[in-house]
Amino acid sequence: MCLLSSPQDQDFRALKGEPSLFGDWFTGFVHEGRNYGGRYLAEFDTRMLPFVDHVQGSGIAAPRILECGCFEGGHTTAIAMKVAGARVTAVDAREDSLRRALQLAELRRCGNIEFHRDDLDDPQMAFTKEYDFIYCVGLLYHLRWPAAFISRCAASAPKLWLWTVLCSEREADHIEGDYRGRLYHEPVEHPLSGVRDRSFFLKLGSLHGMLALAGYRTVTLLQREEMKDGTGPAVLLSASK
Ligand SMILES: C[S@@+](CC[C@H](N)C(=O)[O-])C[C@H]1O[C@@H](n2cnc3c(N)ncnc32)[C@H](O)[C@@H]1O
Repeated sequence: MCLLSSPQDQDFRALKGEPSLFGDWFTGFVHEGRNYGGRYLAEFDTRMLPFVDHVQGSGIAAPRILECGCFEGGHTTAIAMKVAGARVTAVDAREDSLRRALQLAELRRCGNIEFHRDDLDDPQMAFTKEYDFIYCVGLLYHLRWPAAFISRCAASAPKLWLWTVLCSEREADHIEGDYRGRLYHEPVEHPLSGVRDRSFFLKLGSLHGMLALAGYRTVTLLQREEMKDGTGPAVLLSASK
C-alpha cells in the first residue's frame, strides 16, 4: 500500500504549524526554526548522518534507498532532504507510525518518499524492487527471522547500512541452525517494538556469519556501544557485496 497522499489532505492542513498536536510523538524535529514533537531527535542521529555521507560519496546521481522500519519518518525525511536526488522507499509494519511519517514528509515537502506497510519478517512488497542502498537502523533485533531478512536485503541491494542491538556473549542461550543468541520477549503493543512476541537477538559472530552467507564480502564496523538500558551491545556497520 502506498500511503503518500496529496498535501491537500485535511488532517495535514490542521496539523501544519501546530506544535502541540505533535506532542505525543517520540520523534522531535525542527521545522522552520521551531521545535516540534518528542525527545528523539532523529534528524541529528549519529547513526544516520554518516549514511548520508556514505551515499553522497558513492557518486550515484539518483540513489534508490530502501529504509526498513521507518517509524515516524525522522530518519526518512532527513535522508530524503539531505541526499541529492534520493528516491526513498520507507517501510514499516505499523499503520499509525506510517501516518505520522507521511505527515512529517508532507510538512517537509519531501516528494521523493514512498511509504509502504509491510511485515519485514514476511515481506510482500519491500523486496520486489532493486535498490542501491538498504538503510536498516533499529529493526533487525525486532525480527524473528533475521537470516532470511539479511538474505533478502542482499538480493535487493549491493549495500546495507545496519545498526542493531546484539546478544552479549554471556547471555547467548539459544541456537538456531548455525546461529547463536537469545530469544527476546517483544512488548508488541509498543510502537517501537517488533510485531511478534519473540525476536532473535544475535551474537556478533552470528551476525557476521549471516552477512557472509548472504553474499556481503566486505563488512566495516563503524561504531560499537553498550545499550544504556542493559539490553546488550549494539553495532553500526556498513556491508557491501
Ligand atoms: C526501534 S524502532 C526504529 C525506528 C527507526 N528506524 C529509528 O531508528 O528511528 C523499530 C521500528 O521497526 C518497526 N518494525 C518492527 N518489526 C517490524 C516488522 N516485522 N516489519 C516492519 N517493521 C517492523 C517498528 O514498527 C518500529 O517502527
